[in-house]
Amino acid sequence: MDRELALEFVRVTEAAAIASARLMGKGDKMGADQLAVDAMRRAFDSVSIHGQVVIGEGEMDEAPMLYIGEKVGAGGFAVDIAVDPLEGTNLVAKGLPGAIAVMAIAPKGGLLHAPDMYMQKIAVGPRAAGKINIDAPVSENLKIVADSLERNVQDLTVVILDRERHAGIIQEVRDAGARIKLITDGDVSPAINVGIEGTGIHMMLGIGGAPEGVVAAAALKCLGGDMQARLWPENDDEVARAKKMGITDIKKILTIDDLVHGEDVMFAATAITAGDLLRGVQYFGGGVRTHSIVMRSKRGTVRFVDAIHKLDDKNIALKL
Ligand code: FBP
Repeated sequence: MDRELALEFVRVTEAAAIASARLMGKGDKMGADQLAVDAMRRAFDSVSIHGQVVIGEGEMDEAPMLYIGEKVGAGGFAVDIAVDPLEGTNLVAKGLPGAIAVMAIAPKGGLLHAPDMYMQKIAVGPRAAGKINIDAPVSENLKIVADSLERNVQDLTVVILDRERHAGIIQEVRDAGARIKLITDGDVSPAINVGIEGTGIHMMLGIGGAPEGVVAAAALKCLGGDMQARLWPENDDEVARAKKMGITDIKKILTIDDLVHGEDVMFAATAITAGDLLRGVQYFGGGVRTHSIVMRSKRGTVRFVDAIHKLDDKNIALKL
């Protein structure tokens, strides 16, 4: 993939973020998602790729835009794309932190075609890479991360989605002595944060969306972090769906390389609402400011893009 594409990709997530952030706090998660999808789809038209959506808004019959299999881009290098135009719809609807517009791009075949179901995940930063085990007790993984960061378990913060299904692991983390940040939605942002020292987030644990798991793995691959996962189907239909998508061993531990194959993945995310790493979209008279991260695993370059964009005459749409 051409490295110049990084800037083109970040324009795509910027467009989605700018559009959907307008609905922050308005209680309209579907509306915010729709604005993000429309803007992202439009922005793809000028990107020099021959892209195919492998993780998107749903199957063709349920999602009119950015559906699985949809071709996007103006032509160029053949890539597979995972998109989440609005990751954390509730967060935008309520004006809570951590919503992002996000995508991952890899050469054809580079991203696991994750079915839309739950996935168990553990994500850590670069210093603990290669040392974690999703099947080990939580306390063991915490000790590994603490040792790798040369600190005590008490000095770690773990992010977990605040769900009933996580009562067990929340107790285990508490018993081990680490701090917890319970989040209401959006487990991709914290997965990025664990990969970057200084965010104050050291581990992400729990069961969330499988498509989000692949996107998170792409970010962690760029950052040199690590992730393990396992599909978490809730019924026989989901097992059948996973098998249809080529995942025959449902219980298999998926390593970061199973989630994202090869060494040339790119990742771009723009904050919609503020998070631990990125500032949220800020509108002002005649313009808007965005904060994004764009990275490529091949070179390990991590760029933060702080951008100011002019709005059009109606002060709504963006001239990207
Ligand atoms: P949205 O699809 O509404 O943006 O939600 C995304 C998300 O919060 C993911 O970040 C997370 O992996 C998953 O949903 C959690 O699912 P659930 O809300 O069913 O626990």
